[in-house]
Amino acid sequence: MTDTPAIFQANIHTVDWRAPYRVPPAQAATLIDPTGRAVESLDGDWHFAIDPYDTCLRARWFEEEYHDCDGRRYPVDFSFDQWQTTPVPSCWNLQSPQWFWYEGSAVYVRNVGFEAGPAGERQFLHFEGANYATYVFLNREYVGWHRGGSTPFSFEVTGRLQADNRLVVVVVNTRRPDEVPTDNTDWFNYGGLHRGVSLVRLPASFIRDVHVALRPGSDFGVIDVRVEVDGAASGATVELPELGVAEEFVVADGVGTAELAVRPELWSPDNPRLYEVAVSTAEDRWQDRIGFREIRAEGNSLWLNGEEIWLKGICHHEESVERGRSLTADDIRLNFALAKELGCSYVRLAHYPHSRAAARIADEVGLLLWEEVPVYWAIDFGNPDTYADAANQLAELIRRDRNRASVIIWSVGNENPDTDDRLAFMAGLARLAKQLDPTRLTSAACLVDPSGPVIADRLVDHIDIIGINEYYGWYEPDFAQLVALFDNSRPAKPVVICEFGADAVAGRHGQADEMFTEENQLAIYRQQLQVLGGIEYVKGISPWILYDFRCPRRAHVDHGYYNRKGLLDATRTQRKLAFTELQRFYARKAATG
Ligand code: GCU
Repeated sequence: MTDTPAIFQANIHTVDWRAPYRVPPAQAATLIDPTGRAVESLDGDWHFAIDPYDTCLRARWFEEEYHDCDGRRYPVDFSFDQWQTTPVPSCWNLQSPQWFWYEGSAVYVRNVGFEAGPAGERQFLHFEGANYATYVFLNREYVGWHRGGSTPFSFEVTGRLQADNRLVVVVVNTRRPDEVPTDNTDWFNYGGLHRGVSLVRLPASFIRDVHVALRPGSDFGVIDVRVEVDGAASGATVELPELGVAEEFVVADGVGTAELAVRPELWSPDNPRLYEVAVSTAEDRWQDRIGFREIRAEGNSLWLNGEEIWLKGICHHEESVERGRSLTADDIRLNFALAKELGCSYVRLAHYPHSRAAARIADEVGLLLWEEVPVYWAIDFGNPDTYADAANQLAELIRRDRNRASVIIWSVGNENPDTDDRLAFMAGLARLAKQLDPTRLTSAACLVDPSGPVIADRLVDHIDIIGINEYYGWYEPDFAQLVALFDNSRPAKPVVICEFGADAVAGRHGQADEMFTEENQLAIYRQQLQVLGGIEYVKGISPWILYDFRCPRRAHVDHGYYNRKGLLDATRTQRKLAFTELQRFYARKAATG
């Protein structure tokens, strides 16, 4: 094989073919904020092919070498421009029946035209979300990679763009035990560029990050502003025109802060008041619409803007039957409208960061949100690289959404075994959340200690709200244990029951003790609500779940690879009996305060 091009030998003779790609992944610190920017969308049809043996990365298809070192053409295994196209954003699983269950590598290719901007302009490729690992190549060169299936990431490509550019993106959604989540979840592992891609142009010195928030404990009278500038800047101005604010402040070493003594009209679900906010430097201007509110936990209670609240909630996954994880704004508005119709003031966005649009729309329609990183079930808690992955996903989520008034809770995980490694891992994430954003509360969905039963998870010492998942009446048939759980527990913090529920096949009717009937689900809701409504230290609930969702673990004939604990069916058109039961409960809760 002496005259065979080296690439073939590398392709089939190298076991550690991943080594050239092992550069530090894109991080929260390299994220840009496209808010209010003039972005050039790269959404639309891209050429696409699945790549089950990772051959693009092994054989470096992205270099598009068609001739050997002597100029002889040699056979390649790709034909980018002849491949079929697929829409971006989308999940490949729903673009073709042959890709429904596909897990592995896939290759996206498109050409990008570019007109040079003014001198000093900087350019970035920005991705809103891709599941799970993403490798980016521009004009046959490696740009970098990102891991994490639901958070945004950016790559600076200044100086690497020409009039016509070739963009190749490899997305890998193979489930792995050292990732976050691992290879075992109770939801469908959609793959692909499931959120938007864009080219963002910024000045030589640009505003990379802005955090504007009402300072907790300031009697609603101080707004803190923190700005990060990438590039030379000595000062900035923050404007809140409706509050008569136009305040200049110093920027030193890329960071500037300001304290504004103002009294904004407070944001709440009943009054989702948003303000125009702008931050400008000599070269750049950033703007957003932001609500100001205070969320606080004290003793067993939760307080919003100084008033005690009870979280009337519901959970939902980021999923639609037709679009998988690529929800449109209309999908999100429908989900939130259904939540409002239930009488919800609050939604738990399970179990991973939903799209940027979700919190923006919640800001507008007035819903409080629990947002979460997918530290789900048994994570590789002893692996420092797994922790780095989880911490970065949390940091990317917080940087993306910490100006969203609707978000009140950062959750660091769900239903994790109470081990020493897990405690260190998740307590570390809780500390990181507070460090990145001291204005919000932290939580996690903890499990009860069944021996009591009792609330005894050691993580509760490290979070503000004790989230509890319990399924008495469904997985734990003895309902008396639910009452015992609360009698046995003495939590010193607010408790939110962040999951309870039961499966029911929409339209299936029978006796209340017949599993998978709507009557059985209704009976369990009745018993749950009757107990939970009377526990003094329970300050909210978010039953599992608004609507049925795809679930590869559930092969029971009544599941049909769906989790059927929804209050509606997966199409969100058929309500089950329990929908009205929860609606009545929330109406009574609202009436009695
Ligand atoms: C768990 C888990 C959910 C899951 C649910 C169920 O509590 O958090 O992700 O779907 O139970 O078993 O239906």
